[in-house]
Amino acid sequence: MGLVPVDELLFRAEQEGYAVGAFNANNMEIVQAIMMAAEKENAPVIMQASQGAIKYAGLDFLTGMVKLAARSSKVPIALHLDHGTDFDQVVRCIRSGFSSVMYDGSKLPLEQNIAMTKKVLEIANPIGVSVEAELGKIGGTEDEVHVSEKEAMYTDPDEARYFVEQTGIKSLAIAIGTAHGQYKGEPRLDFDRLAKIKSLVGIPIVLHGSSGVPDEAVQKAIKLGVCKVNIDTNIREAFVGAMHRVMEEKPDEIDPRQILGPAREATIEIIRQKIRVFGSAGRA
Ligand code: G3H
Ligand code: 13P
Ligand code: ZN
Repeated sequence: MGLVPVDELLFRAEQEGYAVGAFNANNMEIVQAIMMAAEKENAPVIMQASQGAIKYAGLDFLTGMVKLAARSSKVPIALHLDHGTDFDQVVRCIRSGFSSVMYDGSKLPLEQNIAMTKKVLEIANPIGVSVEAELGKIGGTEDEVHVSEKEAMYTDPDEARYFVEQTGIKSLAIAIGTAHGQYKGEPRLDFDRLAKIKSLVGIPIVLHGSSGVPDEAVQKAIKLGVCKVNIDTNIREAFVGAMHRVMEEKPDEIDPRQILGPAREATIEIIRQKIRVFGSAGRA
């Protein structure tokens, strides 16, 4: 099977009331872990690469690994650019064969975000590449901002409706209280805002910063319209945590396979758990 457009996966997820997991891939072991977990759970899956991942692994290597995974896998796999803020990078990913890109214009003024998102859609739409946009600011948990300041960064429902009308975008990342990275306390999601936005835009919603959000809260968000759930930090914790464990137990180990193998296994396990929470198990 070749790479599948994200829109196709999200369309079905929306109809059937589940969400597709979008997992960040930075190296071969993580690409393999995402594929193996999806196969074990018989689930569609999105592998996503950030600009940082592309800088680390190289665009051709990443695309090559994910294309190979998709070709040899029985489950649908999409390759998605995560938080593309640079138009030229977005174009390079599309040329390289990504089946989906996120154009993240959330730091731009509204009209500029609309104009740039439309520019990306103009090149992606005709060749069947999906596009995700972002409105509102999903910060990092390390950002020192008060609750009231945080709320000011949340997605405004009327702006969301206007943004979707103007761009014709098919999936939208919104800010409702999640943040990237490890949470200090328990995140509190603004479900009313999510419900309002969903009722106004009627397209699949994307939840970023989903690591550390309690399972029940993620499931409630899925019921209210979230169809794509992004996970990176939980993968980092599982992968590096396993590496630390092996290195503590065997400080003299010099074979990288003895360290990276258990890291890959731990990553498979966390991704399988997430897939089951999102309701996408058995939906391939
Ligand atoms: O959304 C952010 C992801 O966790 C990617 O992080 O830019 O360090 O690869 P990164
Ligand atoms: P976490 O690292 O908080 O899981 O966020 C992932 C994400 O939103 C990638 O775009
Ligand atoms: Zn994100």
